[in-house]
Amino acid sequence: MTTLGIETSCDETGVALFCAEKGLLAHALHSQVDLHAVYGGVVPEIASRDHIRMLLPLIQQVMSNAGIEKPDAIAYTAGPGLVGALMVGSGMANGLALAWDCPVVAVHHMEGHLLAPLLEDEPPEFPFLALLVSGGHTMLISVRQLGDYEILGTTLDDAAGEAFDKTAKLLGLGYPGGPLLAALAEEGDDAAYPFPRPMLNKPTLDFSFSGLKTAVMLQVRKAEAAGELDACRKDIAASFQRAAVDTLVGKAIKAAEQQDLNRIVVAGGVGANRLLRAEIARRFAGEVFYPRFEFCTDNGAMIAVAGALRLAEAGASEEIRAQARWSLDTLTVPAAT
Ligand code: KG4
Ligand code: ZN
Repeated sequence: MTTLGIETSCDETGVALFCAEKGLLAHALHSQVDLHAVYGGVVPEIASRDHIRMLLPLIQQVMSNAGIEKPDAIAYTAGPGLVGALMVGSGMANGLALAWDCPVVAVHHMEGHLLAPLLEDEPPEFPFLALLVSGGHTMLISVRQLGDYEILGTTLDDAAGEAFDKTAKLLGLGYPGGPLLAALAEEGDDAAYPFPRPMLNKPTLDFSFSGLKTAVMLQVRKAEAAGELDACRKDIAASFQRAAVDTLVGKAIKAAEQQDLNRIVVAGGVGANRLLRAEIARRFAGEVFYPRFEFCTDNGAMIAVAGALRLAEAGASEEIRAQARWSLDTLTVPAAT
């Protein structure tokens, strides 16, 4: 049973072929990051056009690499995301399914991120706590089984990745800033500036990053006024990263303890952050699981694996979907067909 996975929710065109028996057969990714870099953020119209340009060649490449002429099923990201970008993947998936006469399944982008560690050799078993940290989301989720998700905490303002990106912009780093800031932080002193750990000591499992962002902004202005920004940049980056990571790790461990869960899955683009990985491993007594680095950020493989599971348990989707807003906790446990 092979499933073709298609991801086009934002600025990466991701395609993969997943086989229920043999695992991942092939995958390909095209990042649009250079196209959007000049604008300092993703331009939806440009994203959709580039998905149109790249999607079919990537599908052909993946099928040919795997030596397969026709998959048994197709899974595509149906939301949440940029609606024009989603429509490209959805249209392609549903058109190919019609031509190939195979089932097609609509996948929730965040469910894809949650299930990405299942692609690894030693996947986590249910139940687990998920820390989902990407450019658009920051969530703590109790994952009891496929489709049974309870959101325990979310961000009240910026997402974790957005906080990294905006701080990087304040520091005059390039786009997307998260990985650049993380690299610079490795050279800096993370105790140089005592930035706030927003809401860390409050009982809620929600996050807020705007106070931290403002504290960094004030520090950057002060350093600029003193003509010292170049000298301070790496220390500000390291101190910001330390504050953000302390907050994420502290809340994730608190949530796991409250829910009596001894497994944590870290997923989403910020899950690629090395300090986050090191800190959670150091402080959490249970097991921690991650997708491999390349599957932390958006990709087709996570959509293929999530689609294959949904299809096996619930069968094909009946409607063509492209849904910009779609809350993860509206998903349900698939009813067996
Ligand atoms: O999951 P993802 O690829 O896309 C969304 O669905 O948002 O996550 C992208 C986000 C960006 O904000 C990027 O700056 C951040 O993940 N990111 C990182 C790192 N690598 C990517 N943030 C911190 N440290 C990193 N190493
Ligand atoms: Zn994502």
